[in-house]
Amino acid sequence: MQGNFTYHNPTKLHFGENAMACLVDELKNYGPVVMLSYGSGSIKRNGVYDAVMAALKEAGKTVVEDAGVMPNPTYEKVQEGCRLVRDNKVDLILAVGGGSTIDYAKGVSASAYCEEDAWQKYWVSHKDPSCRTVPVGAVLTMVGTGSEMNGGSVITNRKAGFKLGKVFGTDLFPRFAILNPRFTMTVPQYQMVAGFFDIMSHLMEQYFAGKADCTTDYINEGLMRSLIHSSRIAANNPQDYEARANIMWTATWALNTLLKCGKGGDWEVHQIGHAIGLVTDATHGMTLASVSLPYYRHVMHDGLHQFVRFATNVWGVRPEGKSDEQVAKEGLDCLEAWMKEIGVVMHSGELGVTNENLQAVADAVLILPVGYRTLTRDEVVEILKESM
Ligand code: NZQ
Ligand code: ZN
Repeated sequence: MQGNFTYHNPTKLHFGENAMACLVDELKNYGPVVMLSYGSGSIKRNGVYDAVMAALKEAGKTVVEDAGVMPNPTYEKVQEGCRLVRDNKVDLILAVGGGSTIDYAKGVSASAYCEEDAWQKYWVSHKDPSCRTVPVGAVLTMVGTGSEMNGGSVITNRKAGFKLGKVFGTDLFPRFAILNPRFTMTVPQYQMVAGFFDIMSHLMEQYFAGKADCTTDYINEGLMRSLIHSSRIAANNPQDYEARANIMWTATWALNTLLKCGKGGDWEVHQIGHAIGLVTDATHGMTLASVSLPYYRHVMHDGLHQFVRFATNVWGVRPEGKSDEQVAKEGLDCLEAWMKEIGVVMHSGELGVTNENLQAVADAVLILPVGYRTLTRDEVVEILKESM
């Protein structure tokens, strides 16, 4: 292991079919007013809303309803949430949904009492809150982002022309998260496999960085192998509880700060994905799927040793009698075959990237000086063209 790090994750997780039984006790740790934030209504159709409301009632809470958090939540919506928090003196924001709802809740928590321009302070300048924040709790209904156990808050600001992620400190991690795999069974197939790819992308973004022999990479490989195995089962039979539960647990560990210990990270695929999301409003995991292969084939030679390791340790490619290039390339071919097998979107053209808006997408990509290669703007355009 190289470098220095502090590992501290304060989120308390309750996992499994009976996890909801823990919600009432968790709620008792907070004041009387709970803002219930959720999306467009899937929780009303699948019974999760009723279960949450029953727990809130049992805990004697006053509930402030905050519906309509959209996928790729907007800064406008965050500002609406802030007003609700202030007007009702909210003691806890309970986010019930996927990454969008939980990211949104963190954004509201940090911004409600912020006296500066919150967009500028957090998402552009990456500063930490210096005001009071509101505790966030989560009931997860869609698997992928890891938002249930991290400080990430990805917000779209169309006026500013960016979809940006802020990683808040441990104060804004959900204080608790309820993870019942059954709650995810009603997620449509398209969203489900987009989530699977999001997990794989989080694993790869952290894996493809650095040169050292690092325990973290071995943990990462184990998670990738578990995800590949279970995703094949779940893509064919979404009702397979064991596979869905494994994937839920994998998603949490894929992005709860463990896998960056002793490592840098790349995250350029996510920057390109966010720019596609900004322009097309496409589903996050699919934006990543559509650009990953062109991106990794582009940077493969810069981090060849790790692409060889990926091929052999994750996909079981036999290296005998082959050059490193051949082995690395075979690994990416295996990734491609798996993506097709689970059914993710392979081309950004299918998500709405066109010759007309391609430059706008490229201009909105943040180029990070990390990973094995720092892209030029022209390379971003090249990768986007290949992805279409
Ligand atoms: O609006 P509702 O009714 O909630 O419907 C949602 C939404 O339409 C639906 N859904 C969720 N649970 C369901 C369900 N439908 C039926 N049954 C259920 N049980 O699924 C759709 C997508 O939900 P969303 O929350 O948008 O998905 P996801 O969890 O993939 O979140 C995506 C957002 O998270 C950000 C992304 O950029 C994107 O904005 N990310 C957050 C990260 C973090 N916090 O660390 C990291 C990620 O890389 C990512 O950037
Ligand atoms: Zn992601």
